[in-house]
Amino acid sequence: MSSPRVVRLRSRSEDDFDVLFRIADDLATWEERSAASPAPLTGEAFRSRLAQSDADDSGKDVSFVIDVDGAAVGSVSLFDFDELARHAEVGIALVPEARGNGIGTAAISQIVEFAFVRCNLRRVHLQVIESNLGAIRAYEKAGFVVEGRLRQHAWVRGKYEDIVVMGILRSAWDFTARDKGGLPRD
Ligand SMILES: CC(C)(COP(=O)(O)OP(=O)(O)OC[C@H]1O[C@@H](n2cnc3c(N)ncnc32)[C@H](O)[C@@H]1OP(=O)(O)O)[C@@H](O)C(=O)NCCC(=O)NCCS
Repeated sequence: MSSPRVVRLRSRSEDDFDVLFRIADDLATWEERSAASPAPLTGEAFRSRLAQSDADDSGKDVSFVIDVDGAAVGSVSLFDFDELARHAEVGIALVPEARGNGIGTAAISQIVEFAFVRCNLRRVHLQVIESNLGAIRAYEKAGFVVEGRLRQHAWVRGKYEDIVVMGILRSAWDFTARDKGGLPRD
């Protein structure tokens, strides 16, 4: 019998560069991951982007590598912190071969716990294109609810799509369930 995989969030090391670059340079999921115009990315440009964000200590961005049984398979981040209203946005991406196995849901649940318990946030939110049904399902499993839509807000491979806005409130999140991964109450 195979033992369950251990999904954990950890800091980035130099060994993770290739996996993270493969995700960042993946044109097939560009519009799923980014609001910027699609464009090829060189390793050099990506390295300097990482260095820039490491050097920027003005913001509170938090970025973890998603590790499964010792191997990097993706990243998950909190960004755009609002210190006053205590909220931030979350973003996540996995390498293709890691998708569809519950890893994304586990990683999202863990970063939501980090946001509420360690960063004292009250709300975590995200934006997802309407056709990204797997992502929407993973967010719902982690306790996010749909809060609204930005109609025809994204240009996705030849057509306009709505952006679905989702969020989770700390008041709807069960602190007592955090050993189980921070499950929502309902
Ligand atoms: C989005 C992402 C992080 C989700 O992680 P994941 O590990 O693939 O997701 P999970 O396996 O935990 O959950 C996916 C769920 O969606 C379901 N799903 C997948 N494709 C689906 C589809 N087309 N329609 C409906 N449900 C779908 C799966 O069955 C699963 O639900 P279940 O457990 O109830 O069966 C990952 O797929 C990814 O990195 N995608 C590319 C980048 C991206 O889209 N990032 C998100 C930007 S908003």
